[in-house]
Order: sequence, then structure tokens, then C-alpha cells
Amino acid sequence: MSEKAVLNIDGKDYDAPVMHGTLGPDVVDVRKLYADADVFTFDPSFTSTASCESKITFIDGDKGILLHRGYPIDQLAEQSSFLEVAYLLLHGELPNAAEFTEFEHNITYHTMLHSQFDRFFTGFRSDAHPMAIMTGAVGALSAFYADSTNVDDPKQREISAHRLIAKMPTIAARAFQYSVGRPFVSPRNDLGYAENFLRMSFSVPAEEWKPNPVMTRAMDRIFILHADHEQNASTSTVRMAGSSGAHPFACIAAGIACLWGPSHGGANQEALEMLETIGSVDNIPEFVQGVKDRKYKLMGFGHRVYKNYDPRATVMQKTCHEVLDEIGHHDDPLLKIAMELEKIALSDPFFIERKLYPNIDFYSGITLRAMGFPTNMFTVLFALARTTGWISQWKEMFEDPGRKISRPRQLYTGAVNRDYVAIDKRG
Ligand code: ACO
Repeated sequence: MSEKAVLNIDGKDYDAPVMHGTLGPDVVDVRKLYADADVFTFDPSFTSTASCESKITFIDGDKGILLHRGYPIDQLAEQSSFLEVAYLLLHGELPNAAEFTEFEHNITYHTMLHSQFDRFFTGFRSDAHPMAIMTGAVGALSAFYADSTNVDDPKQREISAHRLIAKMPTIAARAFQYSVGRPFVSPRNDLGYAENFLRMSFSVPAEEWKPNPVMTRAMDRIFILHADHEQNASTSTVRMAGSSGAHPFACIAAGIACLWGPSHGGANQEALEMLETIGSVDNIPEFVQGVKDRKYKLMGFGHRVYKNYDPRATVMQKTCHEVLDEIGHHDDPLLKIAMELEKIALSDPFFIERKLYPNIDFYSGITLRAMGFPTNMFTVLFALARTTGWISQWKEMFEDPGRKISRPRQLYTGAVNRDYVAIDKRG
């Protein structure tokens, strides 16, 4: 592509430089357009707008490619570990053995919560959605760490990143244990990240908790698959909140709130509930007809960026089979419905024409349910894992010397200037 684009407005040409990334489409730099031409660009849902420059994650939605720092997601999911991926996202390179040991130590030794913090959980109703608890609790963390409020100090940013990655499993497990009426379980520093989380979520004082390597590996892989996904709605929310210099814990709370929506992270809960509603393979044709009649959407299908198979869905499907085999549920009726639904959707012109393929949420719900999590915890696990991506993107934003507060503009279509009318004179 050429080095500049030319926009002609009212017969006058305005030049806009064209920028080239290492992968993906070029971008037209319109930053000076308003100053030069007195016009804004209009792209309300950011379908054609690059909101930032980033080196962290690359997605080619047409080809179904997802790379973190250049490494394909399937290789990371098969060969790496969640903490190693967290290091990669934060620092740009895979760690050597000494760097990994130090990182693992830093995360492990921040897993505990201040004992006063537990009162936040008990302040919620026991039937509260754990995502509501997560949003409140993570925002409240900022009240406990006055030693790291200077976001312009790289060391303080690093401490905040470590604390967040370390404390999210403890907070998520507490949100879960509280909702089912079980006592909180403290973290154990001799366990790995995923194993520690599973123990804090499922162990009870009356019994010895035994780790299951298949479940631990599945949990770790689910965390890897959800670790980052470029400039999606929640990540953009974190960046936007952070652009004002807000405390990182408050920014992550904003990201959690955004993730909760059914079009985003909430879809894994809705996908599983949809499979339960369908109830049997025999009901699929009627259900698919309802989707075509636009009565409802096929949850776990479609993606703003992927117009091909979501590469995470492939790994998720494999993990789903491993977990179901482990617990002896190969004949899980929901899995049968999911596989049949996928087969029908992938061969039906309605879905083919719209490039609707399964996304990661299609199989993650069945897997998490088989692991023992209730549906309302699914999005919490997503938030736990995505915290590494959010905080890496937040860190990258602060390392950009050109950082400015985010301030979109608008196309105003409201009333024009008019005079105030006193209440007794209004019709
Ligand atoms: N079921 C049925 N039809 C769908 C679906 C779906 N899941 N998704 C999109 N469509 C249809 C739309 O109705 C539209 O049809 P039309 O052109 O005839 O009007 C067409 O496909 C294009 O859809 P858009 O809404 O323009 O696609 P968009 O990129 O805005 O939406 C989204 C992406 C929100 C993810 C959508 O596909 C959806 O709601 N999917 C279900 C929810 C889901 O699984 N979300 C998880 C996303 S992945 C994640 O966050 C981890």
C-alpha cells in the first residue's frame, strides 16, 4: 500500500499517512484530520478503527490465527503453562529458567489477601452473582495498596501487575465458596497456579483434597486460552479507564464489568444454558429454525473478529473430551447436543453465509461444568485469566511515550442551541 491516503472533502485534498504493522492490515493515521479538515471520522463500534499500537497479540480472523507475542495459541496451550504465558504477555519474551523461577516466586508470594478484605465477601448477599462480587472486590483492592498508587513508576506498575495476577484466583475462589456456603480456603505456596485455585475452590475442611492432574492441566489450559485477545471490549475498557491515570485495580474492575455482558464473556454461561434448554438432539432442528427466524442467537457461535473457526475452540474441544473422559462422562448429553448442533450449523447456508463458526465459549461451558463449576462461575474464570492480558495491555499503554487520555468524539444529532423556557411557560 502507498505511504499516504488522500481524502477529498469539498474539493480539497487532505493527506493522511499510512502506517504499516508487522502483520495485519495497514492503518490510515487520521490523528491530524480534525485539526486540518475540521471533520471527525465516524466508527461507533470500532469496526474499522485501530485504537492503539500494540505488540502483544495478533489475530487474523479470516484465517483463524491467534498469536501471543508471535507464538501460536495452540503451541502455547499444548506446550507452555499459564504463568509462562503471563510472563510472555507482560514482558514480550518467554522467560529463561532463572527469570521464570523469580516470576513464579513473585506471583506465589502475593496470593494472600489482607484479612480485613474477607469482610467484603460477607457483605454481599449469598445469592449474589459472583461477577458482581468480583467487580466490587477487585475495585476494593485499590483501597488496600497505597504503596503502589503511582502509575507513572514502572516498579509500582510491576508490583500491581504481580498482585493482580496472584490475587485473582484467591478472590475468585472466595466468591465461589461464599456463594455455596463453604468456608474460605487460604492459598498454599507449594502448589502451582491452577492447582492452588482448584484447591481453594473445591476443598472443604472435612476432607483431604486430592489434586487431579487432568483437571489441573485442563484448568491451566483454559486460563491460557483466555489470557488475552487483543483490543476487545473489556481490554479497550481497561485501556480507556487507565488512560486517565486511574488505579490499575479500578481499571481491571471496569474490565470485569464489561466482560460480564452476554455478547462478551457472559456468552459461556449463556451457551451452556442454551444447550440445557435444547435438552435433546431431537429438538435441534426446531431450535435452529428459531435462530433463523431471529427469535434468538446461537450462543457460542459468531465473533466480531473471527470469520473462521476460533483457534481457541479447537483446543477447547480437545480439553472438553479429556475432562469428560476423566470423569467417565463420554456420553454427556450436552456434549452430544453440542457436537450435533455444531455439525448442523457448519453445513447450513444461514451460518455459512454469515461466517458463523463456534467460538471458545461453545465448549468451555461443558468443560467447566464437568469440572464442578456452576454456570455463574464461568465468566469469573474468564476474568481471572484475562486479568493477565488486561494488565499487560495496561502496562504497554503506560510504556508508550505518546500516551494521552482517551477521548472519542461524536456526531451530534440533538437539538440545536435554544433558549431556556421557565416551567410555567412550557406547553
Ligand atoms: N446466532 C445467529 N445469528 C448470528 C449470530 C449468532 N450467534 N451472531 C451473528 N449472527 C448474525 C446476525 O444476526 C447478522 O445477521 P444479518 O446480517 O442477517 O443481520 C450477522 O450474523 C452478522 O452479525 P453481527 O451482529 O454483525 O456480528 P457482530 O460481529 O457484531 O457480532 C457477536 C459478534 C456479538 C459475538 C455475535 O456473533 C454474537 O452475539 N454471538 C453470540 C454470543 C457469543 O457467543 N459471544 C461470544 C463472543 S467470543 C468472546 O467474547 C470470548
